[in-house]
Amino acid sequence: MRNSYTLIDRLLHWALAFTILFILLTVFLRLNWMEKNHMAGILMDGLFSIDIEITKDQAIKIAKQIRSPMFDWHLIVGYIAAGVYVLRLIYNSTKKNLYSPKNTTEKFQLWVYRVFYIFLGFTLITGLLIRFGPDFLHDVAENIHKMTLYYLIPFLILHFTGLILAEIGSEKGIVSKMIGGK
Ligand code: HEM
Ligand code: HEM
Repeated sequence: MRNSYTLIDRLLHWALAFTILFILLTVFLRLNWMEKNHMAGILMDGLFSIDIEITKDQAIKIAKQIRSPMFDWHLIVGYIAAGVYVLRLIYNSTKKNLYSPKNTTEKFQLWVYRVFYIFLGFTLITGLLIRFGPDFLHDVAENIHKMTLYYLIPFLILHFTGLILAEIGSEKGIVSKMIGGK
């Protein structure tokens, strides 16, 4: 959409892209291989085979202890993503006419990015509220935060499909432009 990307543009894009992909990995682990009931089942079966019986509650407690150091990285990298997000907003606000869409496709792209940034704002604020907010907001924040995948996955599919179409179509080299600048 743009002719060139400044070094700061690119650093911010890749910082956000990699932090979000990393965070998605922690979510994926939490919901699949390291899901607490799943791990609790393995623990109970394994111990049962050597004649030790523990309750479901005990097994879940241990499962959470195994999961916790992994999911700590969700929070650590989440703070970094929040920092990058704020820097992006500050940087964009210093530039006038950052984007000047020339046609319907470019207008659509611009709106996709805007909507994405608004939703990402909700994700980050609700994430921080779960950790540091008042008790009465905890459950609401958690429910909203957990809805993140509903916009993030469609965005990523759209983003990657768009990039491939641009790359084989009229905007050859768009990916190199986001890496090398021009
Ligand atoms: C891994 C491969 C990726 C490549 C090659 C890539 C490439 C690009 C390119 C070329 C643009 C500019 C598009 C244009 O001007 O029309 C762009 C913009 C953007 N990308 Fe990516 N992207 C990748 C991953 C991601 C990921 C994982 C995210 C975040 C979830 C992301 C979020 C964005 C956003 C929000 C924009 C709008 C401009 C900005 O804020 O930097 N991208 N990307
Ligand atoms: C790009 C940023 C982020 C994304 C995409 C993201 C995404 C998600 C998703 C999809 C879940 C739900 C996992 C599930 O269903 O079990 C989740 C859970 C969680 N996130 Fe984030 N998150 C982000 C940033 C943050 C930040 C900045 C914090 C706070 C410092 C945070 C704290 C949490 C906590 C505490 C949970 C667990 C909630 C629970 O106990 O059920 N997240 N995150």
